[in-house]
Amino acid sequence: MDRRYRKVIIAGNWKMNVNPSEAKKLANALLPCAAVRDTTVVLCVPAIDLTVVKRVLRQSRIAVGGQNCHFEESGAYTGETSAQMLANAGAKYVIIGHSERRTMFGDTDEVVRKKVAAAIRDGLRPIICVGESELQREMGMTEDVIRSQVKSAVYGVSADEFRRVVFAYEPVWAIGTGKTATPEDANEICKLIRACLREKYGARPSRGVSILYGGSMNEKNAPALLAMPHVDGGLVGGASLDPDAFAAIVAATK
Ligand code: PGA
Repeated sequence: MDRRYRKVIIAGNWKMNVNPSEAKKLANALLPCAAVRDTTVVLCVPAIDLTVVKRVLRQSRIAVGGQNCHFEESGAYTGETSAQMLANAGAKYVIIGHSERRTMFGDTDEVVRKKVAAAIRDGLRPIICVGESELQREMGMTEDVIRSQVKSAVYGVSADEFRRVVFAYEPVWAIGTGKTATPEDANEICKLIRACLREKYGARPSRGVSILYGGSMNEKNAPALLAMPHVDGGLVGGASLDPDAFAAIVAATK
């Protein structure tokens, strides 16, 4: 983390867990996470939980976010949720291009690019996920994959809009597997993402963008990962459903 230039963010990704009836309880249990000053805490919850979670967090500094959005503003897209709808329900952030979306729901680089544009258009901050698969890593393709995902995601994003963007490096092989990238590897790829962004936006803006690490982050490995200079926070799946573990990860940013 380098707080001189960047916001430190810990974002929880509840995925397809937590019913609206359980969301109130979990959000309440997470309220103490707001206590760490200068760390932004975001709960990315199922769309159907947004309103109830937002209500619980009303007086707190914890922000809420969505986990995906459609790129159109409205229309005949059965089953979809627009960025505008998320914003209207109180979301400030939205995860875009999560590997589960890319691999299971057809979110190509092109779709990701459009969703990033939609999120920005409707006043949300996109948390753009990039990451290589195990096979790509073994084949030595990590750098190429990251570069092309990053470049494509911000293709139409202006310098002014870029200030709203957050990135997350999530190696696909580390998500939900209990395997974590080493702090050094995570740092290396976050640094690479920053370097790609520097090529497009220049030194100052790229120095200011928060780049999170995600993939089996927990209370044990978080301190070492967060100590790395280019890792500006975490995108936390499984451990975000456990209030004690999540609070410990947030505390590790102190
Ligand atoms: P995990 O998920 O922490 O359960 O590995 C991270 C993510 O998918 O964002």
